[in-house]
Amino acid sequence: MKKELVVFTGAGISAESGIKTFRDSNGLWEEYDISEVATPEAWNKNYKLVLDFYNKRRKQVLEASPNAAHKALVKLEEKYKVTIVTQNIDDLHERAGSKNVLHLHGEIIKARSSVDPTLIYPIQGWEIKPGQKCEKGSQLRPHVVWFGEEVPEMPKAFKIVEKVDILIVIGTSLNVFPAASLIYYTRPSTPIFLIDPNAGNLEQLPVLKIIRKKASEGLNELVELLMNEHAD
Ligand code: OAD
Repeated sequence: MKKELVVFTGAGISAESGIKTFRDSNGLWEEYDISEVATPEAWNKNYKLVLDFYNKRRKQVLEASPNAAHKALVKLEEKYKVTIVTQNIDDLHERAGSKNVLHLHGEIIKARSSVDPTLIYPIQGWEIKPGQKCEKGSQLRPHVVWFGEEVPEMPKAFKIVEKVDILIVIGTSLNVFPAASLIYYTRPSTPIFLIDPNAGNLEQLPVLKIIRKKASEGLNELVELLMNEHAD
């Protein structure tokens, strides 16, 4: 029986692929106002601006490639049963080869109906254009979670983390809830590794080991350690 390992990722793991994070200096939320581009109210006020914001994000994602950190996580599957729970809307984990990826905040490469969330479509090219409609006649929107919306995959993520043997957290400021609360759902003895060059202390988590390095460098070390660990 393989040990179960969850990797909880944020924007920092894709930074070395050239995709901007949100809250670092020069991050996306310095350039854009969340309330103008990433909320249901923004969509109702000016949906073209919202489409344009996510079209730009999609173009960047399509032009980017998985980096060494995404690839290192694939190696862990040789020894562990790995689930990636990501806040990222890019598909770099999948393109690196990870088999089991749960997207908490949606997927930029897909569109969905703005009246029926079960109608999800692949996108041809990099744009959702104004006037492109679902089969029920409503404008297509990006298949992402906006601020103020529910996170439908959260209950599934909590369930996975509750029974995990090892948790690795990479490149997230742990600022956005409910996603950030995942790290408190492990069993008390489960080891947690956090890789982030600017990690805070999170002293309330005694099981936590912090690796203050970039994702690729930090994972290089951690994957080696975990691959050499004796299985119980
Ligand atoms: P943030 O931008 O809030 O945090 C990015 C984290 O990555 C920071 O802690 C950085 O220190 C770290 N970082 C930067 N470069 C790194 C590198 N090379 N290697 C490792 N870590 C690095 O991004 P998230 O925490 O992912 O949600 O943001 C969470 C959510 O806020 C996103 O999913 C998105 C955003 O608004 C929605 O849009 C709903």
